[in-house]
Amino acid sequence: MISDIITVIAPVNIAVIKYWGKRDEDLILPLNDSVSATLDTNVMCAKTSVCARQDLIEDEIWLNKEKVPFSNRLQNCLKEIKARAASENSVDPIFLHLKIRACSENNFPTAAGLASSAAGYACFVFALAKLYKVKSDISSIARLGSGSACRSVYGGFVRWHAGSKPDGSDSVATQIADASHWPEMRALILVVGDKKKETSSTGGMAVSVKTSELMRHRVEYCVPQRTELIVDAIKNKDFPKFAEITMKDSNQFHAICLDSYPPFVYMNDISHSIVGLIHKYNEISGKVKVAYTFDAGSNACLYLLEEDVSEVISLIKHVYPPSNSKGFVTGLSYVEDVNSKILKMFQPKDKDLIKYVIYTKVGDGPSEVTDGSHLLNRDGSLIHL
Ligand code: DP6
Repeated sequence: MISDIITVIAPVNIAVIKYWGKRDEDLILPLNDSVSATLDTNVMCAKTSVCARQDLIEDEIWLNKEKVPFSNRLQNCLKEIKARAASENSVDPIFLHLKIRACSENNFPTAAGLASSAAGYACFVFALAKLYKVKSDISSIARLGSGSACRSVYGGFVRWHAGSKPDGSDSVATQIADASHWPEMRALILVVGDKKKETSSTGGMAVSVKTSELMRHRVEYCVPQRTELIVDAIKNKDFPKFAEITMKDSNQFHAICLDSYPPFVYMNDISHSIVGLIHKYNEISGKVKVAYTFDAGSNACLYLLEEDVSEVISLIKHVYPPSNSKGFVTGLSYVEDVNSKILKMFQPKDKDLIKYVIYTKVGDGPSEVTDGSHLLNRDGSLIHL
C-alpha cells in the first residue's frame, strides 16, 4: 500500500519585527508578536515530496539529498497533522498508521541565516496537510517545526500573534495583506557568508530569554508599539515608516544578542558596513529609500521599492565589487543604472566581500506542484539515489 506522491513548494519569509525568545520551548510559543514579508517562490523556495507507505518501519526524511534523523520537531508536526486529519475525518484511519517518506530540497544556502528552516518546515507541513487532506489552518502546526515557519504558510505580509493561551492554540499566523497589495515592494538578499552559523537561533534565543534585560524591555514596550505602527505602514504603503521600524527592530534584536550573557554575534564587519552604507545612501537621497534587516547570520536583507532597485544594485556593485560580475546578481531581472551620480560619493571596498545578491519580491504562500517534478519516484523510491 502506497499513497500518491505529493509535492509542494514553500517560501522563505524575512521578518521586519523579529521573533526572538520563547515562553514555551516545547510548543514553540513566542514572547512577542512578529511581522514578516513572504518572498517569491520563483526565486527562493523549499520543495518537498512526501508519501505514506506500508513497507516502511520508521518515518524517513532526506534533506538536500542526505538522509537526516527524523527529529522530535518533525515528529511533532506529523503527529499534529495526523490528529487534525483524525478530527476532520479527512482520510481512511488505516492510512494514519502508515509511516511516511519525505524528501526536501532548498535552492538557497541552508542554515546561513537565510530562513531555510522556515521554508523547510512550512513546506513539510503543507505537504503533509495535502497528503492527509487537512483543511484547517496549519500555521500552528508549522510553528511546532520552527517558530518562524508559521509565517511562511501565508503569502504577502504576515503577522504571527504570540497568543496567551498555555496550549498555544491562539499562537497563529494571519495575513496582513496579500502579495498584490504592495506590488512595488522588493527585497535584495546580500549573501555575505554561506557557512553554517555558530550559534543556532534556538540556542541563542534561550540564552537571551534567561539573561537579557534589554529583551524584557523590548517584549514589554517596544514590540507592541512597533507592531501596530508597522501594520499601519504596510496597510498605508508608507515606505519610510516601514523602513525605519524595520531597521530599528533589526538593530534591537542584535543589541539583545550582545546584551545576552555570554554574548554572541551574528553580524560581522561586512554586515555593519552595509548598515553604514544604507544610512549614508538614505541621507544623501534625502529620504528613506532602503531598509536593512539581519536575521541570525551575517547576510543582509534589504527592502526597497522597485523604482530604486537599479540604483541600489549599481551602488552595491560599486562599493562591494565582485571579481566576476557574471552571476553576481541572481533572481529577477533589472536594468543597471551605472550613470547614477550618487556612486561618486562612495568609495569602493575590497573585492568579493559580498558573495552574491538575490533579487526578489514579495510573493504568495505555499502551493502544490502539478507538473510532476517530484523528488520521489512513483513507487516512492528516491530520485537522487
Ligand atoms: C532571527 O524560527 O529559526 O530569524 O523557533 O527555535 O526554530 P526556532 O527559531 P527560528 O528563529 C528565527 C529567528 C529570526 C527572526 C525571525 O524570523 O522572526
